[in-house]
Amino acid sequence: MHSSDHKAVLEAMQARMAVRRFLPTPMPEATVREILRCASAAPSGANLQPWNLHVLAGAVKQEIAAALEHAFWHEADAHAEEYRYYPPEDAEPFAARKRALGTLFYEALNITRDDAQGRQRQSARNCRFFDAPVGMVFTIDRRLEQGSWLDYGMFLQNIMLAARACGLDTCPQVSIARYHRVLARHCASPRPKWWCAAWRSATAIPMRRS
Ligand SMILES: Cc1cc2nc3c(=O)[nH]c(=O)nc-3n(C[C@H](O)[C@H](O)[C@H](O)COP(=O)(O)O)c2cc1C
Repeated sequence: MHSSDHKAVLEAMQARMAVRRFLPTPMPEATVREILRCASAAPSGANLQPWNLHVLAGAVKQEIAAALEHAFWHEADAHAEEYRYYPPEDAEPFAARKRALGTLFYEALNITRDDAQGRQRQSARNCRFFDAPVGMVFTIDRRLEQGSWLDYGMFLQNIMLAARACGLDTCPQVSIARYHRVLARHCASPRPKWWCAAWRSATAIPMRRS
C-alpha cells in the first residue's frame, strides 16, 4: 500500500459521520456497485457472508418511503422490532449517553424538549432515508447466529467507508427496522429493478511473508 493510500483510508475513517440531509443528485449505478463490490471484501467467519441487501432508488425508493411514512404516522402501534437493538432505558452508563446525544441532536436542529411534533417530524425523515437518492435495506437469514451479526457490522462499516472514499455520505438507520413487514411487502425479491446481492468468493489463505 502506498503512503497516500493509507492516508485516504484513515481520512475516510475519520470523515465518516451520520449525515441526515442529502442532495437529490442521482447516484450512478456503477458507483453503488463499486462500493458494494469493495464492501463485500469484509471478513466473515467461515466465509458465510451473511449480508443480503436491497438497493432502492428512483420510483421504487419513493414508493417504499411513502409506505414507511404512512406506517410511521398512521400505524405506529401496529409495528414492532423483531429484535432489540437498544438496552433497557435504565442501563447505565448507556442511558446517559443516549440522553446526551438526544440533547445535542435536537439542540442542533433547534427542536425544543417540549416540541413533540417537531421530534416526530424529524424521526419521520428516517422513512424517506433523509431524502438521500439511494437507500439500502439489509436483511439477514433467521438461521444465522450472533457471529453473523458481528460479520454484518463489518460489511456495513465497509459500505460507509467506501462511500466516504467516493466522496459520499451515509446514515445507518435502525429506526426503520420496526417496519419490517412493510419492507418485506415492498422488497419482495426479485424486485424488477435494483435488487442486488453482494457476494464474494472465498479468498486464498494468505501466507506470512518471511
Ligand atoms: C446501527 C446504527 C443504527 C443507527 N440508527 C439511526 C437511525 O435510525 N436514525 C438516525 O438518525 N441515526 C441513526 N444512527 C446514527 C447514530 O446516531 C450515529 O452513528 C451516532 O450518533 C454517532 O455519530 P456519527 O455516526 O456521526 O459519528 C445509527 C447508527 C448505527 C451504528
